[in-house]
Amino acid sequence: MSDFITIALAKGRLADETFGLLEALGIDCSEPRNPGRQLVLYDRANSIRFILVKPSDVPTYVDHGVADLGVVGKDTLLEAGRPLYEVLDLGFGRCRLCVAGYPSQTASIRHATFRVATKYPSIARNYWEAQGKPIEIIELHGSVELGPVIGLSDVILDIVESGSTLRANGLVVLEEVCEVSAQLVCNRVSLKTKRERIQWLIDGMERQLAERERRSPQ
Ligand code: PRP
Repeated sequence: MSDFITIALAKGRLADETFGLLEALGIDCSEPRNPGRQLVLYDRANSIRFILVKPSDVPTYVDHGVADLGVVGKDTLLEAGRPLYEVLDLGFGRCRLCVAGYPSQTASIRHATFRVATKYPSIARNYWEAQGKPIEIIELHGSVELGPVIGLSDVILDIVESGSTLRANGLVVLEEVCEVSAQLVCNRVSLKTKRERIQWLIDGMERQLAERERRSPQ
């Protein structure tokens, strides 16, 4: 399998968008598009292997070199903190990583010690440590907006896409931490040992993105 390029992806929108880009390069994504219970899928003619994993595990597979490339949101990448090459911003899966809470919390996050509910404890720690602010982190795995609503935390640090979950719960964005979009990441060794084929994929995907942008500018 060492002559195969292995790509780690999580099922869902990021994977579907990625398959669209790869198909435009002539790669057959019919197996990973319809995986059933299979976790390893192939385009054997082009020596490409796909592995379907959980989003937060994409950086792990790529860092260990069992996947050469991966597609993952910038939020997940920042949280993982692994030394991967971010070789291409794919531009889709766009959202914002924000601090949110009730409007009345605006002053307290500037001055007081506060509790933050989040799926991103590492990002939260780094964000407030850089500002020298003492915080208490409460790690959750979903429905983070419940934190302030039910009194578990003062604020949340979470991704905001349409903003409708915040609105539905009476919360607002208090601070924007960073923008998020899907990133193509590469294992450091693979980029040397399989350079030619990986570079061909990166260049091809970049061309496809530019072509899409030209046809329908955002
Ligand atoms: C994410 C995120 C927010 C919501 C933001 O949750 O954690 O809760 O989407 O999207 P919006 O701004 O369009 O409302 P997800 O749907 O992944 O579910 P989860 O809460 O179970 O993690």
